[in-house]
Amino acid sequence: MILVLPRDRPSAWIDELVREAEGLGWSCEVSLGDEQVIVALSGEGDAARLEAAFASRADVDVVPLLSPREYARLRARRRVMAGMASGLGLLTAIGAGVPVAGFLLPPKGMLSDPDFVRIASTGELRGRRAKSVLLLGKPVILVRLEGERYVALSAICTHMSICHLEWDEERGQLVCPCHGGAFDLHGNVVQGPPSIPLATYPVEVLRDELYLRREG
Ligand code: FES
Repeated sequence: MILVLPRDRPSAWIDELVREAEGLGWSCEVSLGDEQVIVALSGEGDAARLEAAFASRADVDVVPLLSPREYARLRARRRVMAGMASGLGLLTAIGAGVPVAGFLLPPKGMLSDPDFVRIASTGELRGRRAKSVLLLGKPVILVRLEGERYVALSAICTHMSICHLEWDEERGQLVCPCHGGAFDLHGNVVQGPPSIPLATYPVEVLRDELYLRREG
């Protein structure tokens, strides 16, 4: 089991939660990511009691370690829910009068292929190698390569399809705060436990703007 917690909570809150899990018979190992806190649980604790203890806490996700079959089912369900959520987000933004079209569509006359989505400007990556962005609601990590070339990779670890990857400048890799998985800039797994490569997206540069191709 792992617990996925928001990153913005004070450490006293995390400590209290860890004590609660330990009181239920679990040993806890806390990893602080940029966007999430992951508490990996091991030991003889009762999974049902743990889930019941945190069931009413919207800010704590209890994620079971699943059999391959259950995992495939969970992924399918999450994909459907993510699709619904991004659809809802778009409707909400339109309802609130947010000019989303300007973000989603390339400027007129610059890139006519509707499959390309403007994601950032080259200036946003000046002075650093990587930036987290959203591609139609999905987290993506954009990395600047040599010679003004760019690559974009999904920022969701393929091991459990829930943890957000982080850019490790020193290693030049995307690493997972949950169980230490790592991927190279081609999306290949360079360190388990993940076994599935990351999705990558072609990046086009046009007049200092970066565009990604939508998934088919
Ligand atoms: Fe396990 Fe990423 S979720 S390594």
